[in-house]
Amino acid sequence: MKKLFLTALILGATTLFAQVDKPVEMPYVDYPMVKGDHDEVAQQYCLICHSWGYILNQGKKSRPYWKGTVQKMVNEFKAPISKEDQQTITNYLVKHYGYETTSAH
Ligand code: HEC
Repeated sequence: MKKLFLTALILGATTLFAQVDKPVEMPYVDYPMVKGDHDEVAQQYCLICHSWGYILNQGKKSRPYWKGTVQKMVNEFKAPISKEDQQTITNYLVKHYGYETTSAH
């Protein structure tokens, strides 16, 4: 009886290993990006390290937020984006995923 239990245990473990051996399929979620206003620049740089979901998840944000976020990607995470392209991306993000701040700052 004990032997049978042990056999069952080993069989169970084998099955488990066999399952892990198979390629693991990760669900792929494609987040659509708003077209226009040089979305291709944002596409080129902002999808290198993470999905567009990171941007969508923030909700509508102010210009200072997007400007700061783009700078953070460059300064902290070393995204290779020129000053000009950072500006283009910030404008795109503010227009489609944010709002202009009405105050002087
Ligand atoms: C060099 C890699 C890299 C590139 C390129 C990059 N990011 Fe990120 N991004 C990161 C990392 C790392 C995080 C932090 C992930 C975490 O904390 O889980 C992040 C997080 C974010 C977040 C979540 C909020 C936050 O502040 O952490 C936003 C929004 C974001 N990135 C926007 C952008 C945008 C917009 C671009 C294009 C200008 C961009 N990213 C390009 C690496 C990158």
